[in-house]
Amino acid sequence: MIRLGKHTFTPPLALAPMAGVTDRPFRQLCRKLGAGWTPSEMVTSQASLRNSRKTRLRMDHRGEPGPIIVQIAGADPAQLAEAAQFNAEHGADIIDINMGCPAKKVCNVAAGSALLSDEPLVSRILTTVVNAVDIPVTLKTRTGPSADTRNAVRIAQLAEDSGIQMFALHGRTRDQLYKGHAEYDTIASVRRAIDIPLVANGDIDSPERARQVLDHTGADGLMIGRAAQGNPWIFREVAHFLETGKHLAPPNPDEVRLTLLEHLTALYEFYGEVMGPRIARKHIGWYFKTRSDFKRHKKTLFAIECPQQQYNAIDAILRNTQHEELAA
Ligand SMILES: Cc1cc2nc3c(=O)[nH]c(=O)nc-3n(C[C@H](O)[C@H](O)[C@H](O)COP(=O)(O)O)c2cc1C
Repeated sequence: MIRLGKHTFTPPLALAPMAGVTDRPFRQLCRKLGAGWTPSEMVTSQASLRNSRKTRLRMDHRGEPGPIIVQIAGADPAQLAEAAQFNAEHGADIIDINMGCPAKKVCNVAAGSALLSDEPLVSRILTTVVNAVDIPVTLKTRTGPSADTRNAVRIAQLAEDSGIQMFALHGRTRDQLYKGHAEYDTIASVRRAIDIPLVANGDIDSPERARQVLDHTGADGLMIGRAAQGNPWIFREVAHFLETGKHLAPPNPDEVRLTLLEHLTALYEFYGEVMGPRIARKHIGWYFKTRSDFKRHKKTLFAIECPQQQYNAIDAILRNTQHEELAA
């Protein structure tokens, strides 16, 4: 369990924020299946972009179980502070600052992990945002700009000194993008340097890996990103393994079918009749990624534009598979 002001995170397992993936329907599903907390996809700190459809959807938290954690991105301390206040006034319980995104430009300014090379600016951003709101502020970042400038320990200390209440660290440098492997030694060094809750992230894709990363780093919690795509059950499976040392059975075919259908319905409702089925395609692809029969269905399935037809097609494929499996 992680405690953050009046909020507690149980189990100490988060869905990592992923722009374009962790929208409200997916966050709600992951919470239901065992994630302890689910930060939003990053929203821009630029007030002028706040009325775009994309940002409005990202700020829609209706029906979401709390605490509502809104991630903001930007590079200007005053602008980030204003964005934190705006989101606090519009339902955020916790503000998370993104200094982890490797893109050179996030929302048209050097933001994300580009900031890591400028420690005085990091410090100014963190202090200004923390002082601007009276809700907890957390930070998510990478181990440093590059392998020869891994400054996560100093950034973590700056964060703690600025009043940041939780520190999440992806074990890659900025210039690594998503290549190579995450390393956990730097996360372990950060553990020795700060007392605020520490969350380890990067390449956690199984219950065993989760156990290893916790043991190796001494972190208080874990964040899982890509391994949850098409596999939201990973949260309850990891939580069960961490608690008991035993594996939970994977979901049976009926549960997989019903979960995917529930996810589709939520996407249609959230994005509407036109965008819903289109956005659903990438999720369908992830759910099916390990299935040999998917190639056979993909072309027809991805040509469907109508929500009801897409729903029925997925239902039929998954019911048939069940029959095939039963007959085998
Ligand atoms: C498609 C995609 C979008 C991402 N968007 C964000 C984001 O909006 N904010 C953020 O802090 N990290 C973002 N990340 C980074 C993830 O939160 C996470 O740190 C990274 O994927 C490593 O964890 P994993 O190996 O469990 O996926 C994104 C990653 C991916 C793959």
